[in-house]
Amino acid sequence: MNKGGFKMQTVLELKAVTKKFNGQTILNPIDLTIQQNDFIAVIGKSGAGKSTLLRMIAGLSAPSSGSIWQNQQRVTTTNAMTRIMFQNPRLLPWKTVAQNLSIGQAKITSEQLATTLAQVDLTANQHQYPLTLSGGQQQRVALARILLHHPELLLLDEPFGALDAFTRQSMQQLIENLWKAQQLTALLVTHDIEEAVALASKIVIVGQQQLLQEIPINLPRPRDRHSPAFKAIVQQIISQLETSQVQPAG
Ligand SMILES: Nc1ncnc2c1ncn2[C@@H]1O[C@H](COP(=O)(O)OP(=O)(O)O)[C@@H](O)[C@H]1O
Ligand SMILES: [Mg+2]
Repeated sequence: MNKGGFKMQTVLELKAVTKKFNGQTILNPIDLTIQQNDFIAVIGKSGAGKSTLLRMIAGLSAPSSGSIWQNQQRVTTTNAMTRIMFQNPRLLPWKTVAQNLSIGQAKITSEQLATTLAQVDLTANQHQYPLTLSGGQQQRVALARILLHHPELLLLDEPFGALDAFTRQSMQQLIENLWKAQQLTALLVTHDIEEAVALASKIVIVGQQQLLQEIPINLPRPRDRHSPAFKAIVQQIISQLETSQVQPAG
């Protein structure tokens, strides 16, 4: 563990990672180095391979070629330092919020549970059942379940996609605050370019039809979506997405 250390550590390294399904290339070779406390947003068109990339990093699926390294260890299977959050919160409807958080967590104390519930602002809802919660609250339960494991690497696969715009912004803010407070390393897949610019320290554009691009975002936080600088970056990325198409061979 190097949390709290001063030196930037490489958490994740992708070396010439590709993915094919049934002989068809989904992802061209990806080389990517992610440092501790980076916030990477992965964007690309629908079907570009974003979820596939996240699944490989999580150890849920193997690259067709190349390799993935986490803290200098080759990723071949899931590991406790990495947690993934999906659009669907995947809660057990017949268990309360607190029970959903306690499943499979023999070692969690009531203090740890209380702290985590407070972090996601669900203290008052801990005895409710998931179906009595709003979509945003359900996603906060899913997030709390992840935080209880103290992950180093947080993988987010369009986790706010099903939420209304207002709830989405408050979830984005919550994630940004937790990321900062807990020195997490985060990888967020999103098709929402504004969301990417609001949260990311670096945006990565992926896809079989796209050249891999890394775009550092150096705006101060919290980011003002109405500022000219913010809007200019959003526009720049939109035009980069359009002009970075790989030309068909021959
Ligand atoms: N297990 C699989 N078997 C075959 N094809 C798959 C599988 N998983 C994903 N694909 C295909 O790979 C492409 C990328 O999928 P995905 O990573 O889900 O895209 P994204 O998340 O960017 O929308 C899609 O064409 C999808 O149909
Ligand atoms: Mg996807």
